[in-house]
Amino acid sequence: MGRKVSVAEPILGDAERENIAEVLESGRFVQGPFVEQFEAKWADYVGVNHAVAVTNGTVAIQLALNALGVEPGDEVVVPSLTFGSTATAVVHQGGVPVFGDIDRELYTLDHRDLERCVSDRTAAIMPVHLYGQPAAMDEIREFADSRDIAVVEDAAQAHGAKYKGERVGSIGDVGCFSFYATKNITSGEGGMVTTDDDELAAEIRSLRNHGLVDRDTHEKVGYNYRMSELHAAVGAKQVERLSDFNAKRRRISEQLADELSDLDWLEPVTVPDHVEHAYFWAPFEVQTDVIGLSGKEVWRRLKEQGVETRHRYDRPLYEQPAFVEHEGFNSEFPWSENDADHDYSSMSLPNVEDVVGKMLGLPNHPGLEEEDIDYVIETVREFDPKA
Ligand SMILES: Cc1ncc(COP(=O)(O)O)c(C=O)c1O
Repeated sequence: MGRKVSVAEPILGDAERENIAEVLESGRFVQGPFVEQFEAKWADYVGVNHAVAVTNGTVAIQLALNALGVEPGDEVVVPSLTFGSTATAVVHQGGVPVFGDIDRELYTLDHRDLERCVSDRTAAIMPVHLYGQPAAMDEIREFADSRDIAVVEDAAQAHGAKYKGERVGSIGDVGCFSFYATKNITSGEGGMVTTDDDELAAEIRSLRNHGLVDRDTHEKVGYNYRMSELHAAVGAKQVERLSDFNAKRRRISEQLADELSDLDWLEPVTVPDHVEHAYFWAPFEVQTDVIGLSGKEVWRRLKEQGVETRHRYDRPLYEQPAFVEHEGFNSEFPWSENDADHDYSSMSLPNVEDVVGKMLGLPNHPGLEEEDIDYVIETVREFDPKA
């Protein structure tokens, strides 16, 4: 086989290595100067007063919900198209996910479906900036504010994306990020919670460190969700490179959209003028009826030809067994027994049902050479559904 093009790759260099060496020499592994540095740089980049580093994006969401006062049985509205942990983090906090439909063009939580999703138990609404595309934050905020419901942004896939000039993670009450290895920047594993609210930030700092408020006092049942210095040493360097990385992602994504625009079976996504997309991948929608193949089959065949792509997601989250079966803490909890209000098995939301199985993310990461991009274009252009 010829060339192999990966869809995601951490881009690391001497600067990250030097920082790691400094940690090893210092012998200080937890909650030290690199965590402080990473937090300060991330707060500055996102444009918020506080950034709190944690071990991953899933616990970032859990702590955000905890600090906002989400209690067992409270409902949190999440989109039906996202990675599972947007909703499992709700369950980790004892909350119950309520799945909203997606906007057919943006792929993000549809504000027009929120009225159906809320009840007197709704504690938060959590839009996800999916594939790097900011959700319709004005409309979501307006709806949430009118009902006094908190907004948590799941920005795990959207480092640096902007909505009407503001960076995602600074628009809701709290923002949550992941620095997992495939993300726009990485710390290996890692997460960050962002907020302008001093009290929420203090609460999250305490919760990530066993609920301690001083050396001896556990004020709440907290967790050990601290980030290690080794991870922060990488993350702190990566933040400095994010603008360059994102510029390259954008350039490649726009080139792919442009050069593949005449294919009738592959549609680039719509990017509204008022947003800056973070292009987690270069997202396209496979016109499955035109090509006569499922998105998964296209994904599989491109992989065989050396082009790795992402096929996310192949079903609405409400169809995942954990939710259909109400498998919580080795019991039905946090769902109540015979919970008719949250019977996901009978759910079917029109937009997400229309989109699942069609999305394809082409490679666009900053490690790609021009020859890789040419190879992706050539392979996709010559894709033969009958072969
Ligand atoms: C939308 C979304 N939310 C949350 C997460 C969870 O982040 P982590 O893997 O760091 O726990 C991820 C991805 O990994 C994600 O894509």
